[in-house]
Amino acid sequence: MMLKTIPHVHIETFGCQMNESDSELVRSMLKQEGFVFTEDRERADVVLVNTCAIRENAHNKIYAHLSELRALKKQRPLVVGVLGCMAQNLKSALAEKEPLIDVLAGPDTYRQLPTLLATALEDQEQGLFQKGFALDLSEYETYEGIMPDRGCGVNAWITVMRGCDNFCSFCVVPYTRGRERSRDPRSVLLEARDASTRGFRQITLLGQNVNSYRHEDWDFAKLITAVADTAGIDRVRFTSPHPKDFPSALIEAIATHPKICKHIHLPLQAGSDRILELMGRTYSGAEYLALVDRIRHTIPHVVLTTDIICGFCSESDEDFRATALMVEQAQFDSAYIFKYSERKHTIAARKYTDDVPDRVKGMRVAQLVETQRRITLERNRRYIGKAMEVLVEGDATRSPTQGMGKTDGNITVVWDKSTGHSQPGAFITKHVFDASAATLYGK
Ligand code: SAH
Ligand code: SF4
Ligand code: F3S
Repeated sequence: MMLKTIPHVHIETFGCQMNESDSELVRSMLKQEGFVFTEDRERADVVLVNTCAIRENAHNKIYAHLSELRALKKQRPLVVGVLGCMAQNLKSALAEKEPLIDVLAGPDTYRQLPTLLATALEDQEQGLFQKGFALDLSEYETYEGIMPDRGCGVNAWITVMRGCDNFCSFCVVPYTRGRERSRDPRSVLLEARDASTRGFRQITLLGQNVNSYRHEDWDFAKLITAVADTAGIDRVRFTSPHPKDFPSALIEAIATHPKICKHIHLPLQAGSDRILELMGRTYSGAEYLALVDRIRHTIPHVVLTTDIICGFCSESDEDFRATALMVEQAQFDSAYIFKYSERKHTIAARKYTDDVPDRVKGMRVAQLVETQRRITLERNRRYIGKAMEVLVEGDATRSPTQGMGKTDGNITVVWDKSTGHSQPGAFITKHVFDASAATLYGK
């Protein structure tokens, strides 16, 4: 860099864990090139926003955020870079719509960021304002050789594969993150050991469909077992598997390895076979339930969570009832329930009509949320009177006088800190005396 001062960068991350993980890669690459990171947006020369495109409200959140930056940029020189899925999804149309954007970079071009940002800063010093774009998707980029800059905490994310080849008809991810590719297991294991030496107790392996993980003779069951064997790591989680191809070897690994958490996030999306077919999910409701049975049989105390979309194109009351019935039958421990949001480029946007009125989508979401809340509460109440092993994460969000941690099944436990103080990363046993639909209360 030929800049007068060392540039300070502030990064804000929206969207899923994959974006959190990517922001750690970005930090690492920029630090190596002499950039310095600051938590304080007011002091930054560069503000990066790592964005999400999964639903329209994700876009709206980011537009709102960009208007805050517009005010900041009026006061002083500032380079604004928009990264991630929304940048990749909207491309230059986004920069035209939001003139404050200097740099746009998609998920596969972060190696170009140091140069793009240095150029933007130099241009700004000289009073030039040219926008820099890097929006090519790659079939190979896995950021091999870059150790993420993780900061500190209890959990370390490790991305094991990038992109997605499933093309579920509602989903924008294949267009924002490109073709599916698996990382070399050796670099995954190197990262796991690095995280362990840095004091992380838990690792979460990330991929859009981890069951398609392949590298030479490695599949995901073999990979997660090897990661769980890393000295110093106490818990390993993963997200997400696709219900269409859940291998028995993975169920076995979860059941038998003491460090692999007994929690499976298994996105259902819909209960009606007709809708599942339109969504391109390639399983039926009956197949999904059979998988749930197989999982529960082999891993008796497993915690099962899911994602559901309400109001997909042509979803009738009858289709919706099939989803509601599945929610009762599967007895999830919790569920994320979304209104269908049409996304640019997707198969559904091109082939089907987004014809369920927003009001109906809203009513269906509300009904499912209520059903699931009741089921979650019933399931959480089963823990009352039991002792649970908890990995301490820190203070409860609601109150600094309470500690917060997670069970092996990823259920939140809170307790009064006056009954015993524990450091983040410690394992403690809590006796559950009460439960809500969100939290177990322990002492
Ligand atoms: N790869 C993951 C999903 C990642 S996206 C998987 O297949 O399991 C997370 C969730 O967002 C999805 O499971 C889906 O429920 C929801 N989602 C994706 N696209 C959506 C859309 N267009 N409208 C509403 N919800 C959507
Ligand atoms: Fe999207 Fe389907 Fe891929 Fe998940 S598996 S990221 S829902 S296309
Ligand atoms: Fe994640 Fe949002 Fe992209 S959910 S993969 S950041 S579209």
